[in-house]
Amino acid sequence: MTTEEPKNPLPDSVPASTVTTRELQERKSVRVFRPEPLSPQVRETVLEAAFEAPTAGNQQLYSIIEIKNEKTLQKLALLCDDQPFIATAPLVLAFVADCRYWPQIYRAAGAKKIRRPGVGDLLLAVDDSLIAAQNAVSAAWSLGVGSCYIGDFMENAEAMRELLHLPSYVFPAALVVFGYPTQKQLERRKPSRSSRRVMVMVDGYQDRSPEDLHEIVEVRRGSQDFESWVQAFCARKYNSDFSREMTRSVGVYLADFDSSGSEELDLSALD
Ligand SMILES: Cc1cc2nc3c(=O)[nH]c(=O)nc-3n(C[C@H](O)[C@H](O)[C@H](O)COP(=O)(O)O)c2cc1C
Repeated sequence: MTTEEPKNPLPDSVPASTVTTRELQERKSVRVFRPEPLSPQVRETVLEAAFEAPTAGNQQLYSIIEIKNEKTLQKLALLCDDQPFIATAPLVLAFVADCRYWPQIYRAAGAKKIRRPGVGDLLLAVDDSLIAAQNAVSAAWSLGVGSCYIGDFMENAEAMRELLHLPSYVFPAALVVFGYPTQKQLERRKPSRSSRRVMVMVDGYQDRSPEDLHEIVEVRRGSQDFESWVQAFCARKYNSDFSREMTRSVGVYLADFDSSGSEELDLSALD
């Protein structure tokens, strides 16, 4: 029997907060940036953090497209539901779920028959993309750099494909814009979250009670009453034209992917 000390002994007590947990708590989205660019070292550190994220089978099922061209940025901002601040950000990174390059590797290694990428592959690649993106977001915040996700990146599939040359089996999972926050943005209150009581379930899913549903709205509605806040929110977000366009557009990307799990890939689709 060995009496050696373990290499990484657990601390006697787990600290209630660390620099990392405090930074995660304090991070908030930033939509107005100071004009100064990010230094090459900061850019590198942010990208490095993305690459160090966990990925399914260490496949890194994503690609990162840095968007620098001024005209491309302007068009991108327009295609993303016309959000001009996108084009003002000093660093703009698109994380695209990439189900294309591993099949290209399989083909290069002589594979004659491989599966057509499926919806399962796509979701796994979206997982990889978002985890990498969030690592970049957290690393950026730790360096004083703010960021904002742009969900509208999934809209306007046809035009987006043309703008960023996205081929088949590549899906725009996340667009994130980065830059130093203005003082006003730093002072802006971070939106409140729902309580853990209504968000965390044990041993299985449970539908929320009417009281829980009210509580979720409570932290968001300010002085407005429940009905009018929810109805306006639903019209502005869930039932909006941009939400409908997002669903249509995602359907266009999805059409590439096999949902049966049994289709063979036409290898010429990878050219
Ligand atoms: C998937 C996703 C998509 C988002 N899309 C947008 C967007 O298109 N425009 C925008 O201004 N903010 C966008 N946001 C930022 C959210 O509005 C923000 O995260 C949320 O209000 C919570 O605020 P916080 O990030 O400051 O904590 C998005 C965030 C996520 C995670």
